[in-house]
Amino acid sequence: MNATTNRKLLDWVNEVVSMCRPDHVVWCDGSKTEYDRMTNALVKSGTFIPLNEKIRPNSFYCRSDPADVARVEEFTFICSEHEEDAGPTNNWADPKGMKEKMRGLYDGCMQGRTMYVVPYSMGAVGSPIAKIGVEVTDSAYVVVNMHIMARVGTAVLHALGNDSDFVRGIHSVGAPLTDVKMQDVAWPCNAANKYITHFPETREIWSYGSGYGGNALLGKKCHALRIASVQARDEGWMAEHMLILKLTSPEGTVKYVAAAFPSACGKTNLAMLEPTVPGWKVETIGDDIAWMKFGEDGRLYAINPEAGFFGVAPGTSMASNPNAMRTLHANSIFTNCAITPQGDIWWEDIDATEPTELYDWLRRRWTPNSIRKASHPNARFTAPAAQCPVIAPEWEDPNGVPIDAFLFGGRRATTIPLVTEARDWNHGTFLGAVMSSEMTAAAAGTVGTLRRDPMAMLPFCGYHMGDYLAHWINIGARSDADKLPRIFYVNWFRKDDHGKWLWPGFGENSRVLKWVVERCEGKADAVETPFGLAATKESLDLDGLDLDDEDLDILLQADQAGLLAEIADMRAYFARFGDKMPPELIAELDGLEARLQS
Ligand code: OXD
Ligand code: MN
Repeated sequence: MNATTNRKLLDWVNEVVSMCRPDHVVWCDGSKTEYDRMTNALVKSGTFIPLNEKIRPNSFYCRSDPADVARVEEFTFICSEHEEDAGPTNNWADPKGMKEKMRGLYDGCMQGRTMYVVPYSMGAVGSPIAKIGVEVTDSAYVVVNMHIMARVGTAVLHALGNDSDFVRGIHSVGAPLTDVKMQDVAWPCNAANKYITHFPETREIWSYGSGYGGNALLGKKCHALRIASVQARDEGWMAEHMLILKLTSPEGTVKYVAAAFPSACGKTNLAMLEPTVPGWKVETIGDDIAWMKFGEDGRLYAINPEAGFFGVAPGTSMASNPNAMRTLHANSIFTNCAITPQGDIWWEDIDATEPTELYDWLRRRWTPNSIRKASHPNARFTAPAAQCPVIAPEWEDPNGVPIDAFLFGGRRATTIPLVTEARDWNHGTFLGAVMSSEMTAAAAGTVGTLRRDPMAMLPFCGYHMGDYLAHWINIGARSDADKLPRIFYVNWFRKDDHGKWLWPGFGENSRVLKWVVERCEGKADAVETPFGLAATKESLDLDGLDLDDEDLDILLQADQAGLLAEIADMRAYFARFGDKMPPELIAELDGLEARLQS
């Protein structure tokens, strides 16, 4: 019997089967039995190593092919009908031409393999903000990760019903087993031929060659950001690269904050932060993506469309993110970190005590004398969000939570102050638009170089960045200004001239969150500066912190000469978007320049 009566889904699956020619087709039901069956099979095939049951129950260790370790932005395409709809920040390819090329690659690409049909819901099944997609994949690794990262299986098919539409995602590792004598490898992929392609008008994703993270778990970056950003523009809502957290003050006042930071800049740490300010509480709603719609009261309501965390492992520790460490205690998958002789995972900075011996992510013996790192810098954990000890009780509320403030931030050693409030929505949109960060290892590229990354959406916006910024301006224009989230720009990463961090970060960032809440409530002071409304030393709770007064002066103010030197770069960046660049944001830039020069 078919798992669904949805004709569109059945027809599409049949089409993919005749193109990819898998040996078997399995419709995933999303059950625990299915998860266990598939993890067992992955152990048998050598893809997974079960971790020590006594230390980390029901958890698995996995090493990818060394040529498949991160998102591949240079092979990621937005194939809109018109090139100008993809804009200058995306790779564009003609949809017909790209489909022809992909059909060539997909032709027989699943021979000798099983094709899994994974129906998934981004957002709690049935939520008015949630959306349904179906990913077909020949990777069992992808299926088990999707089990953790999204709601998958039969319940989704029921919600889809007989004739609703869905986002269609095809994924293949591109490694057919064309001969029965061919031995499979632990991490099949096609390193020389990776294509991550999106067809925004028809809401399709075609991915080939990579089994890793955002390239392969299509619900995440491909659907929930690139395709959803286009849907959000068309339908008047927002799909953003933002964590969502709940803040409760000692008096019991609750505020919800959504924050956009580029990949690997600490979103997961902030989402689960343990405040150092007495009496304040942070609870997690999501750590990577926010979908937001206006409620009848005119406020913006957000859901976390995901069900798990796919976090960067190195640097995660009881010191940097104790709640992530507690989330990972069981039922998790670890990819490209190191493994100890006792059968537990290890990565750089996980703990103060370094093991005497390990096996690294490249399967080599490793000791503390080894000069290379034991884990890949983009090693990841996949863990169920429900296991997070500080998950907010309302994290799956189908109606979402009302957002009080947006934070934008990047990794900037110089120039950008600890926290600045925007004067209004358009100014906040401008601060988000000129956001920039030193690059990390989440994407293949040169680590450390500065890149502009508007709203942290540069690799994830499915359409023209100028139109995306105009969508933000339009959202502001048609809303009641008092009901919109207030906007702040933060930078935890400022250093002094000798390379020393000026701010302790981690749990101490709660001091900034407190200031944000107090600004929203009209309780904290700020001073006008050319860049925006800056926190004063007196208004920020610095009790118990031993910070040098001169360092604080540097930390709390923008470096005006540095900013002025960046104006030309900002202007050139905006110029790339031609006449799609909203005039409101050019006016903001002119205003900033004039204020800096006066
Ligand atoms: C992620 C990313 O994996 O942004 O979340 O790269
Ligand atoms: Mn991300």
